[in-house]
Amino acid sequence: MQFDNFTLLDYPLIKRDITILRDKDTQPEAFRAAVKRIANILAVEISKGFVLQEFEVETPLEKTTGYKLKLDVILVPVLRAGLGMANGFLEIIPDAKFGHIGLQRDEVTLNPIEYYFKMPKELDKAEIVLIDPMLATGGSASEAINYLKKRGAKKIIFACLVASPQGIKKIENDHPDIKIFGAAIDRELNDKGYILPGLGDAGDRTFGTL
Ligand code: PRP
Ligand code: URA
Repeated sequence: MQFDNFTLLDYPLIKRDITILRDKDTQPEAFRAAVKRIANILAVEISKGFVLQEFEVETPLEKTTGYKLKLDVILVPVLRAGLGMANGFLEIIPDAKFGHIGLQRDEVTLNPIEYYFKMPKELDKAEIVLIDPMLATGGSASEAINYLKKRGAKKIIFACLVASPQGIKKIENDHPDIKIFGAAIDRELNDKGYILPGLGDAGDRTFGTL
């Protein structure tokens, strides 16, 4: 399946780790470890698009051109499940700042309800990586992007683990400017809005609240 704004990380190590996540017998410790490894790779892949600034650096032998990131990076995990990916990103981008968005899907309507929002200043001058493992109906991600844009965010990338075709289409439709990076595109949603074959409830599996 091809989508204009979705980059699929089609790597053997990711396929191995997504399989660990799908397995219903994987316990939270192994689940969190696999999420972190995938987040490491997502962070490297996403960082390809970060803008660099050149500056002069002096080696012990001579002066040469060095590089630094031009803009701050702000990682924005969507609570709760996004927290599971946060450390994997931080290992690769240790000087990143953090914002948090608390969203919970209403179990009946499947609409996202906001319960927390705390961001660093100057969203307009940062590379923002919105992080949530599951892109199901797309309601939560679309709403989170709306919140960020309303507060001035201009450069937003969305990172997920598993996406449904419906969720990708919703983001492409609501936010055609947003690039999505993910580790798997699954078949469909069931009538409760769960991704099939999926991995179940990412928050419950990360935090052992099943
Ligand atoms: C999950 C997931 C996303 C959302 C995706 O969160 O982490 O935020 O569902 O579904 P959508 O694309 O249909 O909006 P959930 O509401 O289960 O909260 P949790 O992370 O606290 O478990
Ligand atoms: N949220 C999850 O955690 N899993 C799904 O399959 C869909 C939404």
